[in-house]
Amino acid sequence: MGIAFFEKDKIFKLDTPSSTYMIAIVDEEGFLGHVYYGKRVPDENLSYLMRTREAPFTPSVNNRDRASFLNTFPMEYPTHGLGDYREDCLSVLTQAGHSACGLRYVSHRIFPGKPKLEGLPATFGGEGDCTTLELLAEDPVLQLRVVLRYTAFERLDAVTRSVVLTNGSEEPLRLTKVLSACLDMDNRNFDLITLHGAWARERQIQRSPLCRGRQSAFSVCGESSHQEHPFLALAEKAATQDSGEVYAMNFVYSGNFLAQAELTQFDSVRAVMGIHPYDFCWTLAPGESFTAPEVVLVYSDSGLGGMTRTFHDLYRGHLIRGEYRDKPRPVLINNWEATYFDFNTEKLIAIARQAASLGIEMLVMDDGWFGGRSSDDCALGDWQVNENKLPGGLRRLADEVNRLGMRFGIWMEPEMISPDSDLYRAHPDWAIRIPGRTAVRSRNQYVLDFSRREVRNYIYECVRAVLKSANIDYLKWDMNRQLTDLGGIALPAGRQGELLHRYTLGVYEMQERLVTEFPHLLLENCSGGGARFDPGMLYYSPQIWCSDDTDAVERLKIQEGTALVYPLSAMGAHVSDCPNHAVGRVTPFETRGYVALAGTFGYELDVTKIPKEDRDQIPGQIALYHRYSGLMRQGDYYRVASYAENHGYDCWMVVSKDKQEALVTYIQVLGRPNAHSVRVRLNGLDESALYRVEGEGQEEQVLSGAALRCAGINVGGLWGDFRGRLIHLTAERT
Ligand code: DGJ
Repeated sequence: MGIAFFEKDKIFKLDTPSSTYMIAIVDEEGFLGHVYYGKRVPDENLSYLMRTREAPFTPSVNNRDRASFLNTFPMEYPTHGLGDYREDCLSVLTQAGHSACGLRYVSHRIFPGKPKLEGLPATFGGEGDCTTLELLAEDPVLQLRVVLRYTAFERLDAVTRSVVLTNGSEEPLRLTKVLSACLDMDNRNFDLITLHGAWARERQIQRSPLCRGRQSAFSVCGESSHQEHPFLALAEKAATQDSGEVYAMNFVYSGNFLAQAELTQFDSVRAVMGIHPYDFCWTLAPGESFTAPEVVLVYSDSGLGGMTRTFHDLYRGHLIRGEYRDKPRPVLINNWEATYFDFNTEKLIAIARQAASLGIEMLVMDDGWFGGRSSDDCALGDWQVNENKLPGGLRRLADEVNRLGMRFGIWMEPEMISPDSDLYRAHPDWAIRIPGRTAVRSRNQYVLDFSRREVRNYIYECVRAVLKSANIDYLKWDMNRQLTDLGGIALPAGRQGELLHRYTLGVYEMQERLVTEFPHLLLENCSGGGARFDPGMLYYSPQIWCSDDTDAVERLKIQEGTALVYPLSAMGAHVSDCPNHAVGRVTPFETRGYVALAGTFGYELDVTKIPKEDRDQIPGQIALYHRYSGLMRQGDYYRVASYAENHGYDCWMVVSKDKQEALVTYIQVLGRPNAHSVRVRLNGLDESALYRVEGEGQEEQVLSGAALRCAGINVGGLWGDFRGRLIHLTAERT
C-alpha cells in the first residue's frame, strides 16, 4: 500500500487495498502521463499502456505530429492550446492575450499523511491513514508552477486529487479555467451514472450508455444545485450493485462545477471535474497561488455497492468532523410544515409540550422568527427576534422548551438579504448586483456579497449574537436562491470573474468560524431542500437537509440517489403530515417512519393536530430510531432493490461492521393483485453465520448468510399501497 516511485522506469504507483493508480514521466518530453487506474496490480512497468510508441503519434521521433500526439496522449493534467482538443483542465491568459500552456515535470515529494487545503473543505487523514504525492510541473514560458497533489488511502479504495498553481513570473496571469482532475482511460463499454433533479426531486440516478462526444453534469448557478450534482461514475455495462468495475469522481465543493465524460475518436474516455469555467476568471499576481478544490476518486471492483460503501466510510471517517459525527442525533421536530410563518411562542410551546410527552428531543424553530417576517418577502438580514411573535425573546422560548426536557434549535439564512429589510436600507451595496441594472429577485431576496470580509464579519456577529442569546443546540443554515447579477462592488473590473469562487470561499470561512467557536452546536446545512447536499458542506455539518419533498414515496428515489454517495447519517429525513405538502399523497404514518429511519430522523408536522392514531405511533417510532440509529449511522449500506428501477417496491439493508446484525427495510409502493411474495437476496452478511430473521408479518426463520445471499427470503403479505416492513437479522450465537 502507499505510494512508490520507480526511478528506472520513472513511474509513480499509488496503491490502495484493491486499486492501483499509475503515473509516468515521459522521459523525452517531461510529460506526466496517466498509465493506469483500476484493480490493484503488482509492481510492473505498464507504461506501454500510454501508447507513446504507436505511429504516427510519437512525440520526439516525429515532432511534426505533436498535435496529433497531444490529442491522444493520456495526460494527467491536460492543458490548453497546444493540440489536445479534448476537454483540458487548465487555461491561462497572459498579458499579451495568449492562452497556450504546457506542463513539464520538475520534481516530486512523497510523504505520509495529507496536508490541508487552505480555505477549502477536503478529506483528511493522519500518517497511518494515507500517503501523499506532490508532483511539481511547470510551464517554462509562463513560469507557472503547478503542483498536482494525490493522496492514496491505506484502508479505502480512494485517491484524492487537488491542484495548486503559483505564478513565478513577473506579470499577472489570468486563470480562465482550472479543473481539479482528469482521468483518461480506454472505454470498456461504460455506462455513465450521474445524479439529476429539480427542487423537491433532488439526486435521481441516471444511468445511460457513454456516447461519442461530451456528456456532462454541471452547475453555473453558484451552488451545487437541485438540478445536477458534482458526481459522476463510469460503470462497466454489466456492473450491478454487487459486481463489476466502477470508477467514480465526486467534487468536494459547493459552487459551480463541471463533471464531464467524453468518448473520443480512438475509443478512449476522458473524465474531468472541477470548477466550471463559466463566469470564472482568476487573476494570479506574481508570487500568488491558487488552490483548486479536491476531487475524490473511488474505484470499485465490487459494483456500485462497493463504490457506495467506500464513499460512506471515507466521508464518515475522513470528511465529516465534530462531536456529532459519531453521536446519535437528537430526534427533532421542526415547525416548518406545521406552521410555516404563522407561529408564536404559545403555538411552539404547545407543539413542544405534546412532542416532549411523546419522546421527541428537540424543537427546531424554522423561518419567520425575526424582524418583521411573516412571509418570504421581507426581513432577511434583520436577525433580531420578533417580540410580537416571541415575547420575552429567544431566551424565554428556549428556556421553556428546555424546561419541558427538550433541546432547542433555530433556523437562519445568513447569506441572504431582503430588499425590504433594515439591513438592505442601511447597506444596499452589500447585495450582489450589477450597478445600473435592476437585480433579479428570487424568492423576493438578494444574495449578500460573502466575498467581502466586512459583510461576512457583520453577519457572523449576527449569527453569533443569536446563538449566544439563548440555549441553542442546533442551527439549520438555509440558502434559498441561486446567484444572478454577478457584480461584486469590492472587485475591480478585471476580477469580476472571481466573485463566485470568492463567495463560496466566504461561505466556507463563515462555517469554519462557526464550528470552531461553537463546537457543541449541531449544524445542519440546507438549501431550499437539498440544493447544497455536497461533500463541501459535509466538511462543516454532519447532516444536510435532503429535500423539501418529505413524501415517503418520493423520498425513496431521492434517498436512493443521495445514499449512492453519502452516508445515511448525513441525510436529513423527517416524518411529515398527510396529504403530503409536495405531492398531496397520503401514506401510512408507519411507512413514513420507516423511510425517515434511513436518515437523521425527526418530525415535520404539528403534533397537536395530527390524527391520534398517528400520534400514538410516535413513541414506538422513536424507540425504533434509538434501537437502530447506531446501526444506521455506522453500518454498511446495501441497496437490495430499487423502486426507481422496478416501479413496484424498494428495499435496502444496513449491516453492522461486525456482521452480527442487519436491518432490512422493505417498502411496497403499489399493491399488486394476485401476486406472489417478492424474493429479495441479502448480500453483505457473514456467509458461514446463522441469522435469525424476524419482522412483523415476516415468517421467522434461521438461515445462513450464504443462503440469505444466494437464495434470499420471501417478503409478502403486505396489503395495500405504501406498506412497509422492517426485517431484523441477528447472528445466532454458536
Ligand atoms: C427551505 C427549507 O428547505 C425548508 O425546510 C424551510 O426551512 C424553508 N426554506 C424556510 O424558508
